[in-house]
Amino acid sequence: MMSEYLLEMRGITKDFSGVKALDGIDLRVRPGECVGLCGENGAGKSTMMKVLSAVYPYGTWGGTILWEGRELRCASIRESEDVGIVIIHQELMLIPQLSVAENIFLGREPRALGGLIDFDRMIIEASKLLAGLRMGHINVAMPVSNYAGGEQQLIEIAKALSKNARLLILDEPTSSLTKSETAILLRLVQDLKARGTACVYISHKLEEIEEIADTVTVIRDGRYIGDAPMRDMTTGDIIRMMVGRDMSNLFPREEHPIGEVVFEAIGITCLDPENRERRRVDNVSFSLRKGEILGVAGLVGAGRTEMVSALFGAYRGPHSGEVRLDGKRISVRTPQEAVRQGLCMVPEDRKAHGIVPGLGVGYNITLSVLGDFTTAGLIDENREFSVIGEAIRRLRIKTASPVLPISNLSGGNQQKAVISKMLEPRPRVLILDEPTRGVDVGAKYEIYRLMFALVRDGMSIIMVSSELPEVMGISDRVLVIGEGELRGDFINDDTLTQERILTAAITPTRRAA
Ligand SMILES: Nc1ncnc2c1ncn2[C@@H]1O[C@H](COP(=O)(O)OP(=O)(O)OP(=O)(O)O)[C@@H](O)[C@H]1O
Ligand SMILES: [Mg+2]
Repeated sequence: MMSEYLLEMRGITKDFSGVKALDGIDLRVRPGECVGLCGENGAGKSTMMKVLSAVYPYGTWGGTILWEGRELRCASIRESEDVGIVIIHQELMLIPQLSVAENIFLGREPRALGGLIDFDRMIIEASKLLAGLRMGHINVAMPVSNYAGGEQQLIEIAKALSKNARLLILDEPTSSLTKSETAILLRLVQDLKARGTACVYISHKLEEIEEIADTVTVIRDGRYIGDAPMRDMTTGDIIRMMVGRDMSNLFPREEHPIGEVVFEAIGITCLDPENRERRRVDNVSFSLRKGEILGVAGLVGAGRTEMVSALFGAYRGPHSGEVRLDGKRISVRTPQEAVRQGLCMVPEDRKAHGIVPGLGVGYNITLSVLGDFTTAGLIDENREFSVIGEAIRRLRIKTASPVLPISNLSGGNQQKAVISKMLEPRPRVLILDEPTRGVDVGAKYEIYRLMFALVRDGMSIIMVSSELPEVMGISDRVLVIGEGELRGDFINDDTLTQERILTAAITPTRRAA
């Protein structure tokens, strides 16, 4: 009998050296259906999809996969692609040095007679593909590294689409996309659905799940919790299934004393490294008080990351301006110097700047302070372990052991480890650039609570975030940056609305003649 399902995964189990990551999970997808797969960080979503796409080949996991009612036993990613299962991974998999076209056709290059790669055809095909996806502005002959994170993500999606997927798996596809890029992506998925392509969509942004999913499947701690049609569910229901309890208040805002100005940025200007005529950040000045949480809002690409990188000595292009701590000018030419002066930053792009993938979780956490544990060249391991243990407990980082390579952690747990790392030097001013990207609702709550605990202890925090509800839910004051300019500096009281922030973001400041 033909199955009503395109895909049925039954009782899937998977363990990593004795630790159960999946403990009997079911997942069903009908043809043309979009299933939202939801669960906290470390619940097992990515692992489940790696089982399906044969990143973990048949035989390395338990349970059954049925594809159109027949058992599927794929030994390689290639075999799963051949039946039409295509995955877009949570972490980008493009090869930076290769061109866009080469990346898209990697391993499937069009060949000319005689078997040589037909580069001309490859370029033409790739251009056609991107044009059809409203990405015609991308030059497919250029190396992928020329494009920003969001564009790279869209290139990865184009690559997946070129494989004629029958089931497309999107694992956190929008974490580095702007709002408009996200809209493009969601429209693409809608188009595919209309053409009969099924998809599994994983995202911590529940509003995307609400928009795109027909059915929601929730897993928790490697176990199947349940599924239901999206139209019968609210995001509150999904959260309750994910975390196992009600979460009516997503932002644990607390009263806390705010003191004197401790930190000042004066006339921060950053030039584009490729085009020095262009100012990515244009003469931005602001101050920060003791115990204050300063939210930095703006559209993606407005220059917020460049600005905070300059404050931390990590901006790669020419820049100028002055940074003061307690009224005294400090020198922050490198991140090391910034850390020594009491300034720390958790970067936006954890893969490029935040972690050393092959090293253990614990070592990644203490990397920023290893000097502290070293006496006469010897590392005091006991002290190091207690610091690591404390960090893992405080943010509930889900790891089988502190020596597990950090790249084996789930995406959100890697993010928590990066935050822990930057707390270890006990900075006076902490800069967080998109701190909750890829982090589940429960863990977001824990990060916010941690932020409040830190400011109560007298730390000051600068938080760049593209999530306006988060900026408004957590900050004491909100800076708005637009096209590199400071366009607003608001006290976050009852009169501040999302609309006022957005209006400020797109309204140029009048310049002196
Ligand atoms: N290669 C590995 N070795 C050891 N443990 C692993 C490995 N890959 C994943 N795990 C563990 O399996 C569990 C599930 O991880 P997974 O990446 O599937 O979570 P996730 O639901 O995708 O989370 P997130 O939302 O944070 O991306 C985690 O506890 C993780 O640490
Ligand atoms: Mg994941």
